[in-house]
Amino acid sequence: MNLIERRVAAEALPWHDRDVLGTLIQVDGSPTLGSVNGHRVVLAGTNNYLGLTFHPDCVRAAAEAAQRYGTGTTGSRLASGTYPDHAGLERDLAEFYDARSAIVFTTGYQANVGMISAIADRDTVILLDAQSHASIYDGATLSGATTYRFKHNDPEDLDKRLRRLGANSANALVIVEGIYSMLGDTAPLKELCDIATRYGASMFVDEAHSFGVLGATGRGLAEALGVEDRVDVIVGTFSKSLGCVGGYAVSRHHDLTSLRGAARSYIYSASSSPSVMASARAALKVIREDPSLRKRLLDNARVTYGALQQLGYELGPEVSPVVGVHVRDSDHALDAWQFLLDHGVYVNLVPLKASPGPFCLLRVSLSAAHTPDQIETIVEGFRALKQSGPLQSV
Ligand SMILES: Cc1ncc(COP(=O)(O)O)c(C=O)c1O
Repeated sequence: MNLIERRVAAEALPWHDRDVLGTLIQVDGSPTLGSVNGHRVVLAGTNNYLGLTFHPDCVRAAAEAAQRYGTGTTGSRLASGTYPDHAGLERDLAEFYDARSAIVFTTGYQANVGMISAIADRDTVILLDAQSHASIYDGATLSGATTYRFKHNDPEDLDKRLRRLGANSANALVIVEGIYSMLGDTAPLKELCDIATRYGASMFVDEAHSFGVLGATGRGLAEALGVEDRVDVIVGTFSKSLGCVGGYAVSRHHDLTSLRGAARSYIYSASSSPSVMASARAALKVIREDPSLRKRLLDNARVTYGALQQLGYELGPEVSPVVGVHVRDSDHALDAWQFLLDHGVYVNLVPLKASPGPFCLLRVSLSAAHTPDQIETIVEGFRALKQSGPLQSV
């Protein structure tokens, strides 16, 4: 076998012969309905937390921007890629967060990679939560900083590691997430901030899954727990609650402007298309003006989590728009996922290597746009799965 053949074989998922990666979703004029591999389903695996992908204001804004500015910028932000809505969205975000500055990136992945590698260097020590997203790990690698993982959501372990750094703890960057994407659990952010402050470390929070979801105005977990003033940098994404694509970094304390020139993912990649920026601005406006979306989302999360728990499934530790259902191995996971599809429910199939523990996951993500009937369809699918003989003990 040559190199390519060896790598292809080594990376094959346990389900490669069932073409799971080729899953084709056909959305059908709605954030929550569509078909997957030809099955009509309720979509419960999309991160479309507020259901804004079809909001008329967002669709209109995108269409108008495409008409006026064309389909793409064909340039990096530092060259020909800053159009009025790129700058406008940065102003909107800075105002929303009451921040000194905001930077918009083409994706959330690029926001983490760019910001972490611009902030940290070889003299920095990064302490990141062990369950951090790949983009956080990749940013840490690119930065060249010495990087340690602390135990997931474990303030004591962070404390121990910072203590070991001695005077160097002032060069530490602590990175955590608001809501973790696989099991839906939140970070003990207040305790983590207390510890970071005590050691003079800087605090970096990725609110990808909590932006638009938590907090009195939807700014995320730091807002919900009243610690925004203790966080140095917040990063987030537009690909979940804002229903499009892109990422951002904001800071209340620091003017981040000069870091644009240090973030390689910002400089060496084309900026987002004007239609995406326009729909993100429209979606942010909806979030600011309609808090009922957040309430509906959390109500749907509560009902679904409660029902699946009652059915006897092992779930993540807290009610959340992400409900991670444990499945013991790859074979059961694929069969259960297919069973749910056959019963009109699409969820994410999470393989062992992307799971935070020694199990696979059926990852359910709820939306404010799910109707009570659609929630019932999701729960019914899982009820039928429990009663399905061989799949009973997934
Ligand atoms: C915690 C977290 N951070 C960052 C990202 C990257 O966001 P994007 O999909 O916008 O690149 C994701 C995406 O799933 C995520 O879950």
